[in-house]
Amino acid sequence: MIDIHTHLLPAIDDGPATEREAVEMARVAWETGTREVVCTPHLMEGSEASPQEVHEAVDRTRAALMKAKVPLQLHPGREISLAWLPKMSDEQLRRSTYGGAGRWLLLEMPFAGWPTDLTGILDDLMIRGFRAVLAHPERSPSVQRQPDRLRQAVGLGALLQVTASSFLGDHRPEAKRAAEALARLGWMHLLASDAHSATWRPPDLGDGVSAAASALGTTPAEINWMVEAGPRALLAGRDFRPPRPAERPELQEPGRRDSRGRAAHSRR
Ligand SMILES: [Fe+2]
Repeated sequence: MIDIHTHLLPAIDDGPATEREAVEMARVAWETGTREVVCTPHLMEGSEASPQEVHEAVDRTRAALMKAKVPLQLHPGREISLAWLPKMSDEQLRRSTYGGAGRWLLLEMPFAGWPTDLTGILDDLMIRGFRAVLAHPERSPSVQRQPDRLRQAVGLGALLQVTASSFLGDHRPEAKRAAEALARLGWMHLLASDAHSATWRPPDLGDGVSAAASALGTTPAEINWMVEAGPRALLAGRDFRPPRPAERPELQEPGRRDSRGRAAHSRR
């Protein structure tokens, strides 16, 4: 598995405070089945390291992992707050993309309120040559009340990254329900840990991914896309759209079934 949202670099945001703690986190990720992680430190007020500092921190942490014999692979990335975005030059954005490949950016969905002009922000990024992954929308109260509010953003090609542990109930029942609703809509594109330490919000994707799979009857191929093929495409900087989820009655909204209980648009 490739975890596309982690706070694993030491002393750069609210992730681990020391290199030793970062190595411990990496060990937990490796031992629970993750083989590669993208380090996505916050870029926001109070957490303002430059792209260069992030890339250097990735290099230092790689060396520490090698020394500790933890074979987890690290990639650079960033979790950018929407408020910070307008302050960034094209070059700063490019250096903050997944893998530094110049295409995909991870944007933090706010935990309160609704971004004033989300579609305008996504449009502007596309004009500048970038595309967006929206982090943990299921934890936003606005989305919890009305998941359909994300329709335009998804239509503009944004990918939604759901936090795997939301399916375990780790972020209140509202987040679990919203994650399930996004999956029913076919908008759960990627699963990640959003890990912050080895113990509190650990980088353990396995249990959450299993819970997502069993809660929704998601096929192994779809799960594989969310934690392997999709992340690989982000890191390669490829322009792509996610595959549509297989048509299954359990993934359709109840109102969209015919009188025999089949999904209204299922294949015959
Ligand atoms: Fe995060």
